[in-house]
Amino acid sequence: MAVIGIDPLVAQNLLEQGNVVAIPTETVYGLAANVYNEIAVSKIFSIKQRPLSNPLIVHISSLAQIHQVISHFPPLAERLAMHYWPGALTLLLNKRSKIPDLVTAGSVKVAVRIPNHPLTLQLLKNLDFPLAAPSANPFGYISPTTPEHVHEQLGSQIPYILNGGACTIGIESTIVGFEDEKIIIYRLGGVSIESIEQIVGPVTIHNPVKHLPKSIVTPGNFIQHYSPTKPLKIGPIPALLATYGHQKIGILGFDKYYEGVNEQQQVLLTPSGSLKEAAHNLFTALRQLDQMPIDMILSTYVPETDLGRAINDRLMRASAHRA
Ligand code: TXA
Ligand code: MG
Repeated sequence: MAVIGIDPLVAQNLLEQGNVVAIPTETVYGLAANVYNEIAVSKIFSIKQRPLSNPLIVHISSLAQIHQVISHFPPLAERLAMHYWPGALTLLLNKRSKIPDLVTAGSVKVAVRIPNHPLTLQLLKNLDFPLAAPSANPFGYISPTTPEHVHEQLGSQIPYILNGGACTIGIESTIVGFEDEKIIIYRLGGVSIESIEQIVGPVTIHNPVKHLPKSIVTPGNFIQHYSPTKPLKIGPIPALLATYGHQKIGILGFDKYYEGVNEQQQVLLTPSGSLKEAAHNLFTALRQLDQMPIDMILSTYVPETDLGRAINDRLMRASAHRA
């Protein structure tokens, strides 16, 4: 059973011996291994039950280290990195041949970021290799934002969870790629589009979830994802209540409780109406509802601006049918 501890040296020793360790980041907890150790990396896939076709993000500790991972750093990418790192931005760039194909699922592009968490930055600085790390949840389930979330689901399969407390942002990094001078957003996340556009101008959003048929899978964008085990319906709560109100339901609300439903069965994302707070609470709230004695979760959309866009994206994916 995994030990939950606060010592980066313990994590370092285990990683150096080829083990998989859970690490905190500002976005969600990661399930980390030495990027150059293919046996260790393959353990990540089996622990998560993740298809080998879904590549992993590489975590580094400094801008100087990026040249060990990528072969070319385009000026636009560098500008974004200088502005946001360490932070919730992942860049998709051409990989060096030293990065195993297993990590990138055979792609010539590698996803890379510097996470913004003091314990993990210290760990990465002490290691002489970057860490490949997806979110530390079973494939398709809600991402973990506390060490307890990781322990509940993967505790029996890993030796150590580095305890960095609750993730401050609470939603995964924004993934950005570059094609013919164009900036493509592959995943909405902790850095908002509005903020990125202020730095580099207009961007294109790749395959927004509402335009995807449910069965289509693109690398890095599994439509059904982040899901509770209970069915989740999203929309205006009064309309959802009219349809599903006769069942045992729980409500994920934005900033206010709804009348006619016991408040014990309602979880608010942000009593103060802050999108930042809502992102921070999203995955914990979904887990809470998933554990309630209810049959179905009804959720409202949040305002479709800033972090609200990433929150709505996660809600839509969480509500998509399982393949
Ligand atoms: O905030 C985050 O990004 C967290 C923390 C731990 O850093 N990590 C995370 O990893 O969310 P994961 O594996 O749950 O999601 C990474 C996404 C996946 O959808 C994956 O397909 C995509 O990034 N991705 C990774 N490498 C890629 C590549 N080479 N090409 C295209 N997509 C890639
Ligand atoms: Mg994930």
